[in-house]
Amino acid sequence: MHAAEFNKTALAGLGSILFVILLIAFSNLVFAPNRPAVPGYALPTGETAAAPAAAAAPAPEEPLPVLLAKADAKKGAQDAKVCTTCHNFDKGGAAKVGPDLWGVVGRPIASVAGFAYSDSLKAMGGDWTYEKLDHWIANPKGMASGTKMAFPGEKEPQKRADILAYLQTLSDSPVPFPTQASAK
Ligand code: HEC
Repeated sequence: MHAAEFNKTALAGLGSILFVILLIAFSNLVFAPNRPAVPGYALPTGETAAAPAAAAAPAPEEPLPVLLAKADAKKGAQDAKVCTTCHNFDKGGAAKVGPDLWGVVGRPIASVAGFAYSDSLKAMGGDWTYEKLDHWIANPKGMASGTKMAFPGEKEPQKRADILAYLQTLSDSPVPFPTQASAK
């Protein structure tokens, strides 16, 4: 076959393919297929009317015990990666910029021997409960204004709960989560 002839044949072939593509595109325009968001048939259920209303309402803030009950320690381990720039999570781990966090749940606040805590944190007193840790991770400066922990805070409640679930695993005798009854 001559090169010129081959080109003509190829062009004709391409042309017809293009034509079919255009035809499909055009028929889609004209007949505007009404594809449902969820594939399948919409079966009448009593719930369909109620669902959008529920979704539109702002999600009420869930109490910590509820968030902890559905927390995922594996996700928490991922989310806690940002902490590892300053904290060790290992048993007997050395202090970095911040103290080692093994067994921090239930431990007296500012109690790692040899770590130079800020006066602000030392003045707080008491033990680290899940509630206190939740507030701390949300906004360290809000709890101890003079803290040395330069962390802006994790604003998402479920992420904090996941991190707390991960902190729970860093212990020889993990502290149980508070229940809703005990939290009140
Ligand atoms: C930029 C460094 C930095 C990051 C990031 C950081 N921290 Fe800290 N953290 C510190 C420092 C410094 C202290 C000591 C604070 C003080 O003395 O005021 C501290 C203290 C703490 C304490 C108190 C420990 C005790 O012994 O009382 C907890 C709990 C804690 N951090 C948890 C976390 C968690 C969880 C994250 C991640 C979500 C995190 N921190 C991220 C630097 C950091």
